[in-house]
Amino acid sequence: MDIYDEVMELAKRRGFLWPSFEIYGGTAGFYDYGPLGARLKRNIEDLWRKFYVVGEGFYEIETPVIGLEEIFRASGHLSSFTDPIVECESCKEFFRADHVEDRCPVCGGEFGEVSEFHLMFRCFIGPGSKRAGYLRPETAQGMFIDFPRLLRFFREKLPFGVVQVGKAFRNEISPRQGLIRLREFTQAEAEIFIDPHDKSHPRFDEVKDEVLILFPQDADEASRWKLADAVEQGIIANEFLAYHIYLTYRFLIGVGISEDRLRFRQHEADEMAHYAADCWDAEILLDRLGWIEMVGIADRTDYDLKAHEEVSKADLGVFMPYREPKVIERMAIKPNMQLLGPRFKGSAKRIADALSQIDAGSLGDQEITIELDGEAVTLTRDMFEITRVKEEIRGEKINLHVIEPSYGLDRIFYAVMEGAFFEEEVEGERRVVMRFLPNLAPIQVCVLPLLGARDELLKISRKIHDDLRKRGLIAEHDESGTIGRRYRRQDEIGTPFCVTVDYETLEDNTVTVRFRDTMEQLRVRIDELHAWLISELGI
Ligand code: GAP
Repeated sequence: MDIYDEVMELAKRRGFLWPSFEIYGGTAGFYDYGPLGARLKRNIEDLWRKFYVVGEGFYEIETPVIGLEEIFRASGHLSSFTDPIVECESCKEFFRADHVEDRCPVCGGEFGEVSEFHLMFRCFIGPGSKRAGYLRPETAQGMFIDFPRLLRFFREKLPFGVVQVGKAFRNEISPRQGLIRLREFTQAEAEIFIDPHDKSHPRFDEVKDEVLILFPQDADEASRWKLADAVEQGIIANEFLAYHIYLTYRFLIGVGISEDRLRFRQHEADEMAHYAADCWDAEILLDRLGWIEMVGIADRTDYDLKAHEEVSKADLGVFMPYREPKVIERMAIKPNMQLLGPRFKGSAKRIADALSQIDAGSLGDQEITIELDGEAVTLTRDMFEITRVKEEIRGEKINLHVIEPSYGLDRIFYAVMEGAFFEEEVEGERRVVMRFLPNLAPIQVCVLPLLGARDELLKISRKIHDDLRKRGLIAEHDESGTIGRRYRRQDEIGTPFCVTVDYETLEDNTVTVRFRDTMEQLRVRIDELHAWLISELGI
């Protein structure tokens, strides 16, 4: 067994994770999070919120997982969200054409023609089949199409950010790598709407000297780059993107990913999504699977807002005032009302309005013909003048650009599990420890009365357990098996602290606290235990 197998075996056995629909034989690409896994995942999500919602001041919204067909027509998914597929002519298995050599890896058979397979799950909204919908392949679109309401909510103050944490669905052709390629998975995405003319970041100064491992498009290998240099030399497109690459780095280190297994790889020009001007993947080195993309951080430009504007016809623009109003000179048509009035009577005003819409710059000396109520009306040269006018322009209507960090939380969950997995030999026995960071551990503390305990010890340990739970800690109570076995059980699920109630407790109101990673022990007073745990857990 390699680490992947060890981790997945432990995950199943200890209630972190298992394939979905097991009693019906299961199907690839779906996983259930069990009691401990769901908690660990929630803790990762909550830490993500601490970074993006609390730290950056972005707001979380929640939009439907089903989207209308129009949304995905606009976004480009309907026409281009496909993968190349091949079928083995002997065993009839399907494969992603770009993931296999020229023979079937299952039976050695030959492949048929390559075709394109659509990755969105289609459904119908309401009875009948008139209204097609799709399960969203990313949470992002819900945030783009809410743009007018969000703009108002943020009172048009730029930049502003919105996030969603939720399910996304892709009908992957042959998902075979556990949590890495799922058909239903959780994304945490932020869409940050910024002024396209100013991609500086107000807090770039705080991060500009940080050094990250970058793997730029044109480089042969990854190397260390100071962020300020990467932006100055045009390696990272702008400060805003660089700031968010750094924030992603902080988050991934914050969930326990080790620095030497983390790099940021820039997309090749032909790999870049249709919407992106620059895109970097945070990749983590996994034991069996190699470098795997966990997060994509992209400058999506105005692609999405423009696309939805075009299809929905809604106004998704913003009026951007210039710092100083611009004065421009242009040629304008000045109607001669003394002639137009008597000649066209009640229609004179409408004709004058129509004239003022005409671009006068391209007009020569000729007459102008306009259409009025379906009829051509010719205006001779004496009916208008062409004059040079000065005009003050205060701003322009544009579409904002979007910077998007897009996290795959299931992949990160797996990377956290693999990174936490640790085994050693202690007194001739194998000890497996999940070294989760204390603030992420699914169980924060386990209270154990000494075995063969007199009732008094059990009473005290139950009271401590109750008290810790009432005060908000995730605590377990375990009274079965030898103390050594009970410690090992907690080690395997990554509980950072075990609290043992023993005979000394009866004498001095202290308990033994055991550290998961070092197995060191310490005596702590019962009345100080809660505060001690809070400070050690870093919560
Ligand atoms: N809104 C941009 C977007 O969706 P993406 O690179 O397609 O970009 C973002 O997806 C992240 O979602 C990826 O970095 C990856 O972690 C995760 N992801 C994508 N497809 C996945 C799948 N089939 N199973 C699990 N995670 C997936």
